[in-house]
Amino acid sequence: MNASKDRPLRDRVAVVTGGCGGIGQAICERLRKEGAEVYAADLVRQTHPDVKYLEHDVTCEQSAIDLMQHMQSHHDRIDILVNAAGIEIEKTIEETTLDEWNRIFAINVTGTFLTSKYALALMRKTGGSIINFGSYDGFIADPRLSAYCATKGAVHALTRAMACDHGPEKIRVNAICPGFIDTPMLKGFFGEGSDSERYYEAAREVHPIRRYGTPEDVANLVFWLAGDEAGYATGQLWVLDGGLTAQVQQMRL
Ligand SMILES: NC(=O)c1ccc[n+]([C@@H]2O[C@H](COP(=O)([O-])OP(=O)(O)OC[C@H]3O[C@@H](n4cnc5c(N)ncnc54)[C@H](O)[C@@H]3O)[C@@H](O)[C@H]2O)c1
Repeated sequence: MNASKDRPLRDRVAVVTGGCGGIGQAICERLRKEGAEVYAADLVRQTHPDVKYLEHDVTCEQSAIDLMQHMQSHHDRIDILVNAAGIEIEKTIEETTLDEWNRIFAINVTGTFLTSKYALALMRKTGGSIINFGSYDGFIADPRLSAYCATKGAVHALTRAMACDHGPEKIRVNAICPGFIDTPMLKGFFGEGSDSERYYEAAREVHPIRRYGTPEDVANLVFWLAGDEAGYATGQLWVLDGGLTAQVQQMRL
């Protein structure tokens, strides 16, 4: 496959679910800048002019089939699939309704399953890279995020299983597990109200690196995982959290 130094993803075809979200947009723009033909597959349309938009509901099997038919007729292959669509629900399990539980699993887990399932036939033609979105919350828990934590743990396990099954077909599968990335999802987590700015600042200070991540930080890792230089990387959970989960909180008396 052709790749030049200045545009290493030239001639690659990429699909990014949740490609119109905070992290997804940065990924789409970075992959585009590196030369790929990029499709943002999302419920909402909010894309860079150089990124193509395809309406896609990751919870719907027919939507996945339609998306792949479009990709087949236009390119006959996919080289990079990023499963970034996701939602968060801030509740304990007692407060979570069954409908809410099913909905977050439908988007975060079933969505990753369905889009990947139907992309594989187009990916094994040339080999490729699937990048799922886990979270540091798949390893350790934040209060009141039970269902979210459970979905991210499931994505981590699914990532490893997919990597085992599809490695022999030259399809690498990894998950990025971000910490606090400054997007609308993070702002939602801190809420509105007088205390939210204080929480926002306090949470920043517990990071060894003393800042939140940016969508561009995440896009840098996606770019590497998508490209040939990550050719030996598969089945791994790449934590990107400014050192947050590397430390125990110190009590200095
Ligand atoms: N922002 C963070 O701090 C953070 C931390 C850890 C993990 N993550 C994960 O990163 C991914 C991206 O998060 P983000 O911060 O960009 O969130 P975001 O809310 O900004 O974007 C999520 C995108 O997913 C799309 N989406 C939701 N339901 C969909 C559906 N049914 N079909 C298709 N698209 C759908 C939304 O329209 C939106 O564009 C998510 O999987 C999230 O769980 C984010």
